[in-house]
Amino acid sequence: MNIRSASPADIPTIAALVDFLARRAEVLPRPIEVIRDTLSDWVGGEQEDMVLGCASLLQYTPLLGEIRSLVVDDCARRNGIGSGMVRALIGQARSRSIPTLFAVTRAVPFFLGLGFSISDKTYFPEKIWRDCQLCPIQEHCGETAVVIHLAEANDF
Ligand SMILES: CC(C)(COP(=O)(O)OP(=O)(O)OC[C@H]1O[C@@H](n2cnc3c(N)ncnc32)[C@H](O)[C@@H]1OP(=O)(O)O)[C@@H](O)C(=O)NCCC(=O)NCCS
Repeated sequence: MNIRSASPADIPTIAALVDFLARRAEVLPRPIEVIRDTLSDWVGGEQEDMVLGCASLLQYTPLLGEIRSLVVDDCARRNGIGSGMVRALIGQARSRSIPTLFAVTRAVPFFLGLGFSISDKTYFPEKIWRDCQLCPIQEHCGETAVVIHLAEANDF
């Protein structure tokens, strides 16, 4: 398993991974143009030289970032790729001095295991304005906000 920054050659694979899980409503869709324009914010998770996972970090403000589009192919789950990518994005956030990261997710136990705690979406109006307002299922999505304050999280 190897976690690394995404490269232009990864764009079609990342787009296909996100599209596949977006069709199952596990993550929001991301157009390939958006992936290309934000490529420096993405990481890929490899197994045997194949990219089988991806995730991105969106910086909303100097103080707040979101982990989004975190996906691992079905065939590669429970091998540490997802947690490896979250740790890599936490490292990116630290190097950019972003003190707080959140995610909106159904994979709550996964994030709790990484030191996040349950929060409330209303603490993240940036997210609501950017994504939730456009979402057809809005508050019925069954997703929970989770947050980590990096100054208090010494494990990463
Ligand atoms: C959530 C997801 C990224 C996890 O990826 P993964 O590579 O399987 O995760 P890891 O192997 O790193 O798992 C880390 C730990 O979390 C646990 N875990 C992983 N997925 C879990 C889940 N859905 N429920 C409960 N625990 C889970 C693992 O058992 C592991 O625990 P361990 O270290 O004690 O064995 C993956 O299941 C996925 O792509 N889900 C669909 C998309 C999604 O929900 N993304 C999150 C949106 S923000």
